[in-house]
Amino acid sequence: MNIAVPTIDRLTGRPAPLIDPFARAITYLRVSVTDRCDFRCVYCMSEHMSFLPKADLLTLEELDRLCTAFVAKGVRKLRLTGGEPLVRRGIMTLFSSLSRHLQTGALDELTVTTNGSQLVKYAAELKGYGVERINVSLDTLDPDKFRAITRWGDLKQVLAGIDAAQAAGLKVKINAVALKGVNETELADIVNWAHGRGMDLTIIEVMPLGDIGDDRLAQYLPLSMVRARLAERFSFEDIDYKTGGPARYVQVKETGGRLGFITPMTHNFCESCNRVRIYMCLGQEDAADLRSPLRASESNDRLYAAIDEAITRKPKGHDFVIDRRHQRPALSRHMSVTGG
Ligand SMILES: C[S@@+](CC[C@H](N)C(=O)[O-])C[C@H]1O[C@@H](n2cnc3c(N)ncnc32)[C@H](O)[C@@H]1O
Ligand code: SF4
Repeated sequence: MNIAVPTIDRLTGRPAPLIDPFARAITYLRVSVTDRCDFRCVYCMSEHMSFLPKADLLTLEELDRLCTAFVAKGVRKLRLTGGEPLVRRGIMTLFSSLSRHLQTGALDELTVTTNGSQLVKYAAELKGYGVERINVSLDTLDPDKFRAITRWGDLKQVLAGIDAAQAAGLKVKINAVALKGVNETELADIVNWAHGRGMDLTIIEVMPLGDIGDDRLAQYLPLSMVRARLAERFSFEDIDYKTGGPARYVQVKETGGRLGFITPMTHNFCESCNRVRIYMCLGQEDAADLRSPLRASESNDRLYAAIDEAITRKPKGHDFVIDRRHQRPALSRHMSVTGG
């Protein structure tokens, strides 16, 4: 008997979810579709990055097969990320093919995390493929600061992309990384701006991923401080809103919007993690090789077995630390390779 073949839950008639060694059901898959990007954010990449050889990347067909195998094994939510997923050539064909799983009801949600630069071009098409909500990363509303943070980005283009997304009927959530001395005094304005446009906002602590040729400690701003400062301007109400992600949300009384905090450094969020990535955990190096079984055979048996085996190795949590004794990255892999 091949125990790797997906099993069906008799009560729901759906594939039984993968369960990791810490009893967490794996229902959320994030897939990094490229490590390349049209920006060079200072906390994410160094200015001169070397990227993976093209042959190491999964083709769009392989990505479809991989995602489909995870859906067959009970994944209900799929997020494409990167690098910048929307700069991968032909990426709309992947959204198009994956949308069949939304139509059959095998998948609840297909979504994307993007820097927004390509949304003018793609927002309406994404909506057409069944994408309902997207995350757009934006750390400042000041054009000069935006250029300084992203090195190559143009704020106007991203804001136009957000307009296009909302006009297409996509629900937009903004992600902002809190950066010491850069956007820390601006975060309250970003709360007002995002909530004023009906967008949730999540503030993220800088994580020590990849050598960025810069000083991590200089960037690091604990969210406990950010939250305390924002609490001087706004009243927060704790809410039990969960997206399956690591953010803890509050409702902001003055704006009526939701504000999330992702605090990998000050609070470890791994205990409730229901997601897998091609790299099994953001903060651990033991990557699962799913490319070999994909390329070894047209049948999915080896792929299913490799997925099962990879899940048995999903680590309990990460161990990121940033302090003066830990100036080197905790992981050599950049977030743009793992997929944030
Ligand atoms: C790696 S990006 C990939 C998707 C897309 N390019 C974007 O920027 O949204 C995903 C998220 O990771 C965040 N990120 C990247 N490097 C990070 C780091 N070292 N610490 C915390 N967040 C980081 C980005 O701000 C972004 O919100
Ligand atoms: S955070 Fe996103 S947009 Fe910025 S460099 Fe990394 S992958 Fe590119």
